[in-house]
Amino acid sequence: MITSVNIAGVAFKNPIIAASGTFGFGKEYANFYDIDLLGGICTKGITLEARQGNPAPRIAETHAGILNSVGLQNPGVEGFIQEDIPFLETLDTVVIANVAGSTEEDYIKTVQRISSTSVQMIELNISCPNVKAGGMAFGVLPSSVEKITAAVKKVCTQPLIVKLSPNVANIADNARAAQNGGADALSLINTVSGMAIDYKTRRPVLANVYGGLSGPAVKPIALKMVHTAYRAVKIPIIGIGGITTAEDVLEFMIAGARAVQIGSANLFNPLAANLLVTQLSNLMTTCKINNINECVGSLNY
Ligand SMILES: Cc1cc2nc3c(=O)[nH]c(=O)nc-3n(C[C@H](O)[C@H](O)[C@H](O)COP(=O)(O)O)c2cc1C
Repeated sequence: MITSVNIAGVAFKNPIIAASGTFGFGKEYANFYDIDLLGGICTKGITLEARQGNPAPRIAETHAGILNSVGLQNPGVEGFIQEDIPFLETLDTVVIANVAGSTEEDYIKTVQRISSTSVQMIELNISCPNVKAGGMAFGVLPSSVEKITAAVKKVCTQPLIVKLSPNVANIADNARAAQNGGADALSLINTVSGMAIDYKTRRPVLANVYGGLSGPAVKPIALKMVHTAYRAVKIPIIGIGGITTAEDVLEFMIAGARAVQIGSANLFNPLAANLLVTQLSNLMTTCKINNINECVGSLNY
C-alpha cells in the first residue's frame, strides 16, 4: 500500500500533517506518541520578535468547534532557532515552519533567518493584519497575496506554501494570486472569523472580542474552498479544516488535496493525528485503495 505523497519535491511518508498553532513546536506532543509516525508537523506561527499573544480568555468552545484569539504567542525567530530547531533536527518527519508578520519586511527577515536552517518547508500565514496598509490582512486582496508571496519567495530557499484565509471574496482569485506570486503549494483554510457572546454579562467571551473558528464546524466550508482552489491552480494543495476522521481525510483528498493538516482535533485528543495515520491505512484497505495518490482530485460530478 502506498501512503506517501510528494509536495513541491518534498516527500511525506503519509498525508497527515499536524497544523500550525495546535501542535506547539512538536516536543509538546512527543510525550504522547512517536511523532515521527506523522507525515509532517507544522510549527506555531513564528514572528521576527517574540510575542506574548492576546490577553485571556483567548479560547472559547462553540458547537462542534473552537474560537481562538491566541494572537501569535511565540518565542520569535531567534528563540525558535535556539530552543526548537535542535529538537526538530532529531525528527524523521517533514518540518514546516509557519511564518507570520505585520509588515512585509518582518516576513522577509523571518523567512531569511529560517531559510538558513534545516526546516524543510515554509508556510506563510497571510491572515495577519498588515500594519502598513491600515490593518487589512495580507491575505484578503488578491493583489496583496501576490505581492507578499513574490517578496518572500525571493528570499526563501525552501519550497514555499502559502496558507490561504477563508475570509475573502473569492478563494479562487486568491489561490491564483499565490500561484502567480511563485507559491510552490497552497494550504487552506485558516480559521473563519467569528465571535462568542455571554448573554448573562452581555460581554464578548474572548478578551479580543473577535476570534477564528476552527474544528468540525468549518469542515464543509473548507472542503468547498479546497475544491474551488484545486480547480483554479496547478500547484499542490494541503487541505485543512475540521478533519477528525480518516473519512474526512479521504474527502479532502477527493476534493483535490494532496495532503491534509489536523488542527483542533489535536486539542481535544492529543493522539488524534497519530490515530488518523492508522485509521487512514485501515480505510484504504476497506475501500481497496492501493495508492493514496489515486484519490487526489478524483471527485465524480
Ligand atoms: C489555538 C489555535 C492556534 C492557531 N495558530 C495558528 C498559527 O499560529 N498560524 C496559522 O497559520 N494557523 C493557526 N491556526 C489555524 C490552524 O492551523 C488551522 O488552519 C485551523 O484551525 C483549521 O483547522 P482545524 O479545523 O483542523 O483546526 C490556529 C488554530 C488554533 C485552533
